[in-house]
Amino acid sequence: MATDTGVTYASYLMVDDLLGLQVPKSEPQHPDELQFIVVHQASELWFKLILHDLDRVVEALGADDFELVTRLMARVNDCMDMVTTGLRSLQTLPPWSLHEFRGYLGTSSGLQSVQFREIELLGGIRDPRLRRVLDDTYPDTPEQLNRRARGQSVSDAHRAAAERAGLSSWEQLYVDSSAWGPLYLATEALMAFDRAFVRWRREHVTLIEGILGPRTRGSAGMALSYLIKTEEFRFFPYLWDVRHELTIRGDGELVGGPPARRDGA
Ligand code: HEM
Repeated sequence: MATDTGVTYASYLMVDDLLGLQVPKSEPQHPDELQFIVVHQASELWFKLILHDLDRVVEALGADDFELVTRLMARVNDCMDMVTTGLRSLQTLPPWSLHEFRGYLGTSSGLQSVQFREIELLGGIRDPRLRRVLDDTYPDTPEQLNRRARGQSVSDAHRAAAERAGLSSWEQLYVDSSAWGPLYLATEALMAFDRAFVRWRREHVTLIEGILGPRTRGSAGMALSYLIKTEEFRFFPYLWDVRHELTIRGDGELVGGPPARRDGA
């Protein structure tokens, strides 16, 4: 293959375009606004890669290629760690700084992040509370979200692949994990994604409480209680539930707690 000497670091990565996309709104420019923009934009870039790889994971599950699923999910999980680390860096934002430039952000809110919603839907969350938020957020739901809501989710593809592999219960997978080698590893990589997403949700709530106070309403007027409830959302609720079965089987006792979740709702 001929090497194109005209392609440079800057031209290939379109660095000038990229670096021109951070446009603070505050006047005079608030010194902390750039971090706020960079962390959000970087999160959107990682979301883009996560979606790209989750689409490949659905395909790989359809082809019963558990090794590829495990490899792709390792990357997806690394991406989620990046997103959470970026979020964490905003802990250094002094509360008053945010108030000094928040008024310039208008009605913009993280609720409007289409890619975040795509990840929730592609992962497999079908909770009616998410549907309501989508309806409240968008006068016309963006087409890619309708497509994601109708399409096969990672969770659907995972359950179908496990059934094809002959698994009769999730408990079986954990009790005899070595017999299920590749499926077990792929399943645990998916479980790690669920954990990583919940970790982001929890850190995001803690960040908001630490900056705006625990009784705040967001720029979209939303009380924090909704975000706290979303910490219950799971892509793979059956993988969390099976831990209950294992605890009982291991002679552990389940005391109280909400009823076990059986599906994406
Ligand atoms: C100083 C940092 C941050 C603050 C104070 C903050 C605040 C909030 C608040 C109050 C909400 C509730 C909705 C509203 O009324 O606006 C929200 C939602 C949201 N934010 Fe943030 N946020 C911060 C950083 C981030 C970052 C870095 C991201 C990365 C993309 C992000 C993504 C989101 C998303 C996706 C939602 C909707 C979550 C859901 O519906 O489950 N936020 N944020």
